[in-house]
Amino acid sequence: MMTNEVLENIKARRSVRAYTDQPLPEEALVAILEAATYAPSGMHLETWHFTAVANADKLVALNERIKGAFAKSGDKHLQERGHNKAYNCYYHAPALVIVSNETTQWWAGLDCACAIENMFLAACSLGIGSCWINQLGTTCDDPEVRAFLTSIGVPENHKVYGCVALGYADPKVPMREKKIKAGTVTVVR
Ligand SMILES: Cc1cc2nc3c(=O)[nH]c(=O)nc-3n(C[C@H](O)[C@H](O)[C@H](O)COP(=O)(O)O)c2cc1C
Repeated sequence: MMTNEVLENIKARRSVRAYTDQPLPEEALVAILEAATYAPSGMHLETWHFTAVANADKLVALNERIKGAFAKSGDKHLQERGHNKAYNCYYHAPALVIVSNETTQWWAGLDCACAIENMFLAACSLGIGSCWINQLGTTCDDPEVRAFLTSIGVPENHKVYGCVALGYADPKVPMREKKIKAGTVTVVR
């Protein structure tokens, strides 16, 4: 099997769901955000926006609003999360990048996913853990959540397509083994 640093980095990336308190160095966050902006986008429209939050109080405030939206939902499982004091959707990571895009742009979600994977891989190459955080996808239009997003710079005409938690993986929490499903690849020659 051929390999190189890029391929090894792709295979090394895993979703990290437990972080240390160590803050993210500014230059690492800048490099990860730059990697996001280098992702491909349909027709090179680049209508996306990346709102990086590296402030613990603001992240707690955002989590509280997401929980508020869950508490109001008709889904019992989400209601339980909304009322659970310990629930933290970003796993207490020191930074979260909110990835948003125009709702009317056909490639919006696809473009955001490309940028998100670029951030995951850039983070991994720098020894930084990451995880896709999806909870704003369903809650970003809740009035309280939306007001908060607007206050931190998420464009008002944008939907949140995903978020990237970033931080140093807690070494005390072992990584689950990655199992690759067989039969998902076909090669025709
Ligand atoms: C579209 C998408 C949404 C996801 N949402 C979440 C999420 O909200 N919370 C979470 O902990 N992981 C989330 N994940 C991470 C997946 O659970 C994870 O990628 C999968 O279990 C494979 O594990 P790995 O990333 O370690 O290879 C999401 C992944 C994708 C691609």
